[in-house]
Amino acid sequence: MIRVGIVGLGYIARIAYLPLLSADPRVEIVGISDLRPEAVEHYGRQYRIQGLYPRLDDLLALRPDVMFVHTSTESHTEVVTRCLDAGIDVYVDKPLADNWAEAKALADHAAARGLLLAVGVNRRFAQHVRAARAAVPDPVIVTTTRHRTEYNHLPLRLMVFNDLLHSLDLLCWLLGDPVEIVSSTVVTDGHGRLSHALGTLAGPTAHAQFVMARHVGVDRESLVLHGSERLAEVTDLDQTSLFVEGRHSTVAFGMWDSLLERRGFVGMIDHVLACLGRPAECEIAAERVLTSHRIAEELLARHSA
Ligand SMILES: NC(=O)c1ccc[n+]([C@@H]2O[C@H](COP(=O)([O-])OP(=O)(O)OC[C@H]3O[C@@H](n4cnc5c(N)ncnc54)[C@H](O)[C@@H]3O)[C@@H](O)[C@H]2O)c1
Repeated sequence: MIRVGIVGLGYIARIAYLPLLSADPRVEIVGISDLRPEAVEHYGRQYRIQGLYPRLDDLLALRPDVMFVHTSTESHTEVVTRCLDAGIDVYVDKPLADNWAEAKALADHAAARGLLLAVGVNRRFAQHVRAARAAVPDPVIVTTTRHRTEYNHLPLRLMVFNDLLHSLDLLCWLLGDPVEIVSSTVVTDGHGRLSHALGTLAGPTAHAQFVMARHVGVDRESLVLHGSERLAEVTDLDQTSLFVEGRHSTVAFGMWDSLLERRGFVGMIDHVLACLGRPAECEIAAERVLTSHRIAEELLARHSA
């Protein structure tokens, strides 16, 4: 059995990781931890977990095989550092940190200790994203849109690192290194909230464009890969339209496929558990997600220049 510890019992732990990890026959959840003792108590009861630890150090003392970190983004550097210092492999939700320097330092720290530090960029494992990538293996242009009906009150830095990073990471991954910003625009409203962001990236053999807008009347995301005589368009991670030499086909999910499968969480967790003790094999090891964090930091620097 893989002995798993979980720290951070908020929204994403509740909807994704607690249900998936507790149902996984390979996994024993040896303990959970959160700054909120009532959350530890609540999820301990719900999932019949024995090890309930308001203090992270007490959970680390159990020496789990891997720690799943789902705490707020601002706390990632501190919490991940403590887990790595204890010599424990880590999976942490994206972003690795809310700034490039700390993200790079965490990746270096894990590498120096020979530990796995996996970062939860789940869209890379979404089945439709994988299908589109296989259908258009050599795209010349990749585009993403990410629209939301509501403004978000998070500071701009967190909006870029928490939210826009989903698009930036997909694009950087699909382009391959090195990636540079060709142009970018970030617009805030009178309250400092992100209104919209758009830009062009250049990779070794292709270009990419991203558009993200808040308060635009629809919650929607799309990914389009434009290649030679081929185009694949993924909508809401749910459906792929494939055009090959003018012919069109559609691929959709089965009715009973779960949302967590569609969004890539199932495949991502499978992959991470398979890579424990073998950090070099992990596709989402920290050093392999750093490009998107650097691009996010550069976007913010261009905006404030
Ligand atoms: N991949 C995705 O689609 C996705 C979706 C949502 C959130 N996330 C990421 O997951 C992370 C958590 O987001 P959330 O929406 O669940 O946040 P949340 O605020 O709902 O939950 C965070 C939890 O962490 C706890 N916490 C904070 N600091 C802590 C510390 N130092 N030690 C122990 N516990 C601590 C809080 O008490 C809270 O229970 C963020 O980094 C976010 O970017 C990813």
